[in-house]
Formats: sequence, C-alpha cells, structure tokens
Amino acid sequence: MERSRLHLEEHLGESFRARLVIIGGDGAATLGYSRGARMCPTGSAPTIGRAGRSMDFLGGENSKSRSRTAFVRKGAGAEQRGIGASTVLLLGASQPPTTSAKSSKPASPSPSQIYHPASKTMSHALTQKVLPKQAEALMSGRAKVTTYESTGGRTTKKFAQHNLSLIPAIPAGSIIHDNCAGSGTVSRLILEQQKDVKIHATDIDQPFLDALSEDVARNSWPIQVSNQRSESTEFDNDFFDYDIANIGVIFWTGAGLDGVKEVHRTLKPGGTALINCWESITWMLPIIIVHKQFRGDAPFPAPPINWTDGQQLKRIILEAGFKDEKLSLERHEVVAVIPETEFRGWAEKTWAYLAGIGGWHQVDDEKWDEEVDRLADVLRQQPGTTVEDGNVSMKASQWVAVVQK
Ligand SMILES: C[S@@+](CC[C@H](N)C(=O)[O-])C[C@H]1O[C@@H](n2cnc3c(N)ncnc32)[C@H](O)[C@@H]1O
Repeated sequence: MERSRLHLEEHLGESFRARLVIIGGDGAATLGYSRGARMCPTGSAPTIGRAGRSMDFLGGENSKSRSRTAFVRKGAGAEQRGIGASTVLLLGASQPPTTSAKSSKPASPSPSQIYHPASKTMSHALTQKVLPKQAEALMSGRAKVTTYESTGGRTTKKFAQHNLSLIPAIPAGSIIHDNCAGSGTVSRLILEQQKDVKIHATDIDQPFLDALSEDVARNSWPIQVSNQRSESTEFDNDFFDYDIANIGVIFWTGAGLDGVKEVHRTLKPGGTALINCWESITWMLPIIIVHKQFRGDAPFPAPPINWTDGQQLKRIILEAGFKDEKLSLERHEVVAVIPETEFRGWAEKTWAYLAGIGGWHQVDDEKWDEEVDRLADVLRQQPGTTVEDGNVSMKASQWVAVVQK
C-alpha cells in the first residue's frame, strides 16, 4: 500500500490547525495521521473517496496524542484503476488552536501550501500582474459583464428572485435603491412586477453601469444610474422606501458595517432593506484547488471576514441602528444548472472571473486550457455537484436579511 507523508510541522510550525484536501488522483484515498508506527485514519472524515474531499487536522498541540505528520494512503481500488499518488492541498492556519480537537475547525484558508508527494517539494509559480490573454478576452470592458452574468450572475439573480418574494408586492410610487447594482439584476426583476417606481442603481464598476445605462435608454426605464460607493452616497437622509443590496455587503468596508450604516441613513422610517451574503458556493473550493495545483504555494487570499453562519450579517445590521425585532434572517439555497454542453465554457468563464483573486501567474498563460479542464473535473466531483440528465447542477447558498427601519 503506497503512502505519502506530509510533515505538517515543517510547513506550519509547532502548533497548528489545518484542513487537508485531496486534489490529485480520482480514486479512493485515506487521509490519516501517525501514532507511533501506525497510521490512524482520522476519526471525523477518514476516507476521502474523491478529489475535493477534505479533513480537518489538529497538530502539535500535545505531541503525545496529536501527530505532526499526515499520511495519504491510496485506497484499495485506486491502484487497480491506475490512479497516481494523491496530492494533498494544505489549507491551514499557523496559529495555535484555541479550541478542543473535536470542535476545532481551521480558520479561513490563509497561509496555504501544496505538497506533491512525488517530488517531495513545495512548488512555486511566478506571478505576473497582467491578465493572461485568455482571461483578457473574457474580462475586458463589456465582456466582463457577459462573463459575470453567465456565471455567478445566474445565481445572484436566483437569490434576488427569492428575496423579492419575501416582501409584500412593491407599491406604485416607491423609491428604490438597487445598491451594488452590477448591470441591474435587481432593477430588472422589480420592473417585471412594478413599473411605476423610481430606481436609483449604483455601483463602482463602470462597465456594468454602462451596460445598464444602455438598456435604460433603450427601454426608457425609470432608473437613474450612477457610480457611487455604497459606503458614502449622495442620497439624502430618509430617502428610500427600499434598499436592496444583492451580494454587496461582503465588499463593503468596515466588515460590511460602513455600507449598512449608509443603508440605514438613507432609508425612510418604515422602509425595507434586503441585504444578503454568500453562505457557500460549490465552485469556490475547486478554484482554490486548481490554484494550488498550478500555482504552487502562491497565496489565495481568504475573505478576511467569515460570513458563513449569518451572524456577521446580523451583527452589523444591528450595529448600524436597525432593531432586532424588525429583522428576519434566513438561509436559502439555490442550484446553478449548467447544460453539459456548456459546462466547460462555464468553467472557463468562472476561472477567468475568480482565479485572479489569487493573482495572475505566468503559468496561467501557459497552461490555461489544462487549468480550465482541471477545474471542470474538480467541479464535477464536488460534494455540492450532481451530474445527471445532461446537466451539471451546483449548489450555492445565501443568508438573507429583511429588515425595516
Ligand atoms: C456580486 S456583484 C452583485 C451585482 C448585482 N447586485 C447582482 O445581483 O448580480 C457585486 C457588485 O458590487 C459592486 N461593488 C463592490 N464594492 C462596492 C462598493 N463599495 N460600492 C458600490 N458597489 C460595490 C461590484 O462592482 C459588483 O458589481
């Protein structure tokens, strides 16, 4: 039975929490840790059947019981199917753990490294500042808008559709802020149900505003489009009946608080705000996995704020001045359904849109197609993905707050 060994301590220091993810091979593998001469599969998630599965690992806290060495062992079926040695992605935090081993979860995946058992080295990739030509074609000017709308934008539209259904029909004469409007996803949905409104659509990304402005002019929509930061707008106090920020808060300064304060300031007493954030996205871990595989130990910055349990969203809404009794918070899940025939194209656009978070690297230019193929493969194997009836379906979820001033 082939084993690969990863001395975590060498890479993370003496005391650490880590999340390990299998990123190589596509067959059974086991992640475990050493105790004496034995290999112990981890109690919580011992068998990692597929690339993309992960386990949490606590190391070094107490050297008597906690190992500093992780093993990857190919499972029984793996050799028969000719699968190469698995590669372990290490997403970890080098700070000492503060909670018990059982409940410990790794912090956001910041200092992260990749280990290739075959070479037993940590790899590096040169960074380049400019977009690779393949990404440029998908991300420059108006192309960026199309790229967004055909990837993540499909999901944010589903969120917005659901969130508008949580509030009573918007009455005629309402004044509405489409906050972080992008190309007007929320505005367009509102106009499908109520045309007699005045919408102010704001964003800071001009290509998106240009796309919306063109449609506004073509259709004579009652939308005023302007480039304004959500944290500091030109609107008067108590101006809006509704403020809808569809996946905007995560970008606002002050961990979201600065923008929510502005929502509170500009909303009329009795007005309604809809503010949501991502909970989880099936395609985010695959992006990181491919980043690690091709770009080596270059960091992939994790969001500095943890939005995943909804508590940060609730906290800043209350801190901005809204009252708990006027707030409702719910988790909601959607599925992005992509026809198989379009799936590789979807993966390429998603890579172009999101992979730059980890910086663009020389390798991206050289191995673009391989990266995209790999992303499509990993995506298909993610726990949140199902492939059936000619479609690839991937889960995504949000926390949405509905709150009155
Ligand atoms: C995930 S997109 C959501 C777009 C749109 N609301 C939708 O539902 O698809 C986030 C948008 O927030 C914008 N944005 C980010 N930071 C911003 C800020 N500080 N002020 C205004 N807009 C911002 C981005 O330019 C981007 O268009």
